[in-house]
Amino acid sequence: MKLCMIGTGYVGLVSGVCFADLGNDVTCVDKDISKINNLKKSIIPIYEPGLDELVKKNYKAGRLKFSTNIGESVKKSDIIFICVGTPTKRNSYEADLSQVFTVAKEISKNIKSFKIIINKSTVPVLTGDKVEKIIAKKVKKKLFSVVSNPEFLREGEAIRDFIYPDRVVIGTSNKSSNKKLKNLYSPLISKGAKYINTSRRAAELIKYASNAFLATKVTFINEIANLCEKLDINIEDVSIGIGTDKRIGGRFLRAGPAYGGSCFPKDTRALIDTAKKTKTSLSVINTVINSNEKRSEILLKRINKILNNKIKNKKITFLGVTFKANTDDMRESACLKMIPYLNNKGAKIKYYDPTGQKNEFRKLKNVQYKNNIKHACEKSDLIIIHTEWNEFKFLDLKKIVKKKNFILYDMRNIYSPDKMKKQNIKYFGIGR
Ligand code: UDX
Repeated sequence: MKLCMIGTGYVGLVSGVCFADLGNDVTCVDKDISKINNLKKSIIPIYEPGLDELVKKNYKAGRLKFSTNIGESVKKSDIIFICVGTPTKRNSYEADLSQVFTVAKEISKNIKSFKIIINKSTVPVLTGDKVEKIIAKKVKKKLFSVVSNPEFLREGEAIRDFIYPDRVVIGTSNKSSNKKLKNLYSPLISKGAKYINTSRRAAELIKYASNAFLATKVTFINEIANLCEKLDINIEDVSIGIGTDKRIGGRFLRAGPAYGGSCFPKDTRALIDTAKKTKTSLSVINTVINSNEKRSEILLKRINKILNNKIKNKKITFLGVTFKANTDDMRESACLKMIPYLNNKGAKIKYYDPTGQKNEFRKLKNVQYKNNIKHACEKSDLIIIHTEWNEFKFLDLKKIVKKKNFILYDMRNIYSPDKMKKQNIKYFGIGR
């Protein structure tokens, strides 16, 4: 099939490349000329394991093309995916849909034969209706159908999540579009993905409700971890104990720092905005947002306690600063709150991240990037494992730190408290 992905950010690029790998003829479009020129040279704008190889392979095979010409790309495609950003508006919980609407207008100028227009961007309920209205201003209704097809790709696992999704959600009441899309996704359905055809509005809400539910699960276990710390219970035992109940499920029950990333914070807020506009109370999600926003304060208080209320001049190392492992994404990372706070209190901070130095900390006095674990940890008083990268999982810290009585605060519960005790390492985890 001939596909066009508009927006070569995370969703558009990963989905476009994966569709090309399934044998489709895909054009990835972006208005950013340098991004497109780089992609033609297989220079990838994001960090995602496996993506560069897949881009190279499919570009070479001619199944994947890159372009800045939206009009031409729309004209030659049967299915057009809108994959642009929907960030939170400034000082508000509302999603900014301006990019989606601009793209819809551009598409409408270039429809000469039947097109399926898919909204893959995460958009509030009713956005599909609005996109349809915009296109209908220029195009006869029988020449297009607007479908919602949300993505469920996790950063760092995006290719696997694309190829082996739990489900494919298609929001449309147009029978012929549904048939074509079922066919497009048939290689994934045959591998076990559930195909769900539903209304467009339901598909839009499924995306938000999924992310809100997962954010709730993480927040729930983080709060239970707070309780475990007070009662000398290991949160891992509780996560296993409740997660084995099939009604609950064991995934997304790892306690840690506040959740972050490009989706959970933004999408929970946008859902609250939708609730407000429809005068509906979503008190659970409101509580989740508030609890998560306060989580860094709780962890900072614990750091203060671990250091006997003496943060000033303490050498603190952060291992990993992105919001989670296998991504270079700093968006809403808990480190953005914790590092400046500790820096303000007079700590001397070094950090190492496998994805390199971060602009967010460049201007902070006494926050230094080190390009390896050893230099970051040497002579530190406190090592904080903030992100669960594999390279942090088997560290011989005594050898690396070269200082007596250093403390390890393992915010991802990678290490066993018993083993640390045996090695005489002062160890703190989350919820244990
Ligand atoms: C999420 C959704 O999972 C994905 O389906 C959606 O399309 C985009 O948003 P992503 O933001 O890449 O994906 O990260 P995810 O792996 O879901 O983690 C989100 C946050 O929750 C991270 O901060 C992570 O550290 C945290 N988390 C996750 C936990 O603290 N504990 C867990 O058990 C799982």
